[in-house]
Amino acid sequence: MAEIVPGAFHFPGFLDAAAQERLAQEIAAVIEQAPLFVSRMPKSGLPMSVRMTNCGPLGWMSDRDRGYRYEPRHPETGALWPPIPKMLLDIWDELTRYPKPPEACLVNVYSNDAKMGLHQDRDEADFEAPILSLSLGADCRFRFGGPKRSDKTVGFTLSSGDALVFGGPARLCFHGVDRILPPILTPLPAPLAGQGARVNLTLRRVT
Ligand code: SIN
Ligand code: FE2
Repeated sequence: MAEIVPGAFHFPGFLDAAAQERLAQEIAAVIEQAPLFVSRMPKSGLPMSVRMTNCGPLGWMSDRDRGYRYEPRHPETGALWPPIPKMLLDIWDELTRYPKPPEACLVNVYSNDAKMGLHQDRDEADFEAPILSLSLGADCRFRFGGPKRSDKTVGFTLSSGDALVFGGPARLCFHGVDRILPPILTPLPAPLAGQGARVNLTLRRVT
């Protein structure tokens, strides 16, 4: 485990190959019930380069007119999001030790050329709980900064099976994905093959 900045902890290889395969199976089932969709930037309406879906009571999304927000239902099917798999609830308990379960699990699917600009996770009403992120598939160059956009940042690699927990003084730190690294060595586990190059799960408390 490495502390990136105070409050942000990187657990390389937290999930072994068998656990990654089990998690991929769970996420493939989520995608079957709640198909991947494209969120759009507030105001400009430009599409994000990742495709996403959610599980849990609330799911994160964005569109041109109403911007970033949590919704209980899928924007295209109108169905409630599927529940968060037990495996993820257990990992949340183990890594965050937070007394309440996560309310949202955002599933982001990156193709080879997808990225995510530097941003804060601040659409939640409660910043007490940490954020838990898990990665599958291709490595990415991840960037982590401070609570101000202008703060200095550090870059590091997030690989398949890695966990990242950021809370407390790091809860509102800027972060993003510079680029996906060649996925040749670490394709997505079989149940997710063909969906993209990399999958990231972000678990959060919202209310
Ligand atoms: C995010 O911050 O929403 C995604 C992070 C990641 O893909 O690792
Ligand atoms: Fe984020």
